[in-house]
Amino acid sequence: MRKNLPKEVEEILEKFRLDREKLQEISEKVEQQMKMGLAKTKGSSIAMLPSYVPALPDGTERGKYVAIDLSGKNLRIMLLTLDGTDPPKHNTVNYIVANHVMKGTGDQLFTFIVNCLQRFLQEFGLVDANLPIGFVFSYPCELLSIRSARLLWWTKGFDIKDCLQKDVVALLEEALEMNMSTKVSIKAVMNDTVGQLAAAAHKYGPECTIGVVIGYGCNSSYLERTERITKFDAAARGYQHDNMIVVTEWEEFGKHGELDDILTTFDREVDAASVHKGKQLIDKLCGALYIGEVVRKVLSQLNLDGVLFGGQSCEKLDEEESFPTKYISEVLAEEEGVFKACRRICDELEVESHGTVDYLIIREVCDVISRRGASIVAAAIAALLRHLELSSVKIGVGGALIQFHPTYHQMLKEKLEELTPITIKFELVPADEGSCQGAALIAAVAERLHL
Ligand code: BGC
Repeated sequence: MRKNLPKEVEEILEKFRLDREKLQEISEKVEQQMKMGLAKTKGSSIAMLPSYVPALPDGTERGKYVAIDLSGKNLRIMLLTLDGTDPPKHNTVNYIVANHVMKGTGDQLFTFIVNCLQRFLQEFGLVDANLPIGFVFSYPCELLSIRSARLLWWTKGFDIKDCLQKDVVALLEEALEMNMSTKVSIKAVMNDTVGQLAAAAHKYGPECTIGVVIGYGCNSSYLERTERITKFDAAARGYQHDNMIVVTEWEEFGKHGELDDILTTFDREVDAASVHKGKQLIDKLCGALYIGEVVRKVLSQLNLDGVLFGGQSCEKLDEEESFPTKYISEVLAEEEGVFKACRRICDELEVESHGTVDYLIIREVCDVISRRGASIVAAAIAALLRHLELSSVKIGVGGALIQFHPTYHQMLKEKLEELTPITIKFELVPADEGSCQGAALIAAVAERLHL
């Protein structure tokens, strides 16, 4: 028993602790699926999707670019000015996608995006500028060119059926045509991991060839040699570049049962209640949209067992999303022995009296569940590192979860050191610029290379 917590706590948390052997096994399976995903279009749980982006920014890009970034509930629009200033100047406005739009029709979603863009361009006096646009669409898509992306399935709580299998660039262009008085041109469409990788490569240089997003969902992309994407017929597609960024979509790993033996009853309940039941298990084990819910379920069980809050029942813990993921970051940000945030959270959970033992339990649950997520992400990154066989690489890691979680970066680094062969030198670099800036940069690369 650790930290003198009641034995019931340790009995539950034990199920969330993954030893090195287990992580190594997961990592090896991830690597196998990645290799299969590069070789075949179907059959692998990791899709390894071609992005048609042949190169990362090299710092010579100049001009004004706009990025539209749809990631979860947030729609961000950015104006990026590349004039050699370091870091580049940017202006960003955040718009919130309403719940009914997330589950409504394609027309509602794309009209909403266009209305926000129109407002943005007006605000910055750019209505007549006809600026090039990079579009981040952070859902799994099959790309047919750098400007054409067919939506395969939704994730992160979106469920707009009439968009499935459609080209999201065509949908955006139609909405632009119908609703906008001004002309703009979409230069590139990409997954958020590609945008983030581009922003990190711009900042950290050419050694940065892997981007990992740990936000609402969790996914990665990396620079691959085109000839190693054996399922991709470059000649038939008229693709003449030596390299291409591949989007792994590793969040689907587990759909063939690969993670069944580590799923706890709490994970299964969170999965059952999700919009995409049985899918995106890595998002559910590691992403910000779900881990608060897993913590809530564990705390609710401990409350039911009479261990948490000394027998007083806490009904709030039975309400969905009453323990948002930001609570985890707040609890873990406190120094040991300080429980200000924890005390406030217990008040918000409407518990009448609470004390140190409760705070210690909450803290331990938050720590163990975050640590499990970071360990699984580390196992997946280690798989990519072995696959790439590079001697030295920088990995741009970003996304709302890792950015605001006080211990995630450190946990990820430690696990990755444990799981990566010593012959591979890696550095985790914070990619806090995010996908939006990278999308504008990719639009610039597309112009530079006349794509
Ligand atoms: C999506 C990915 C995305 C990731 C991070 C997942 O739910 O399927 O395409 O890259 O979240 O935002």
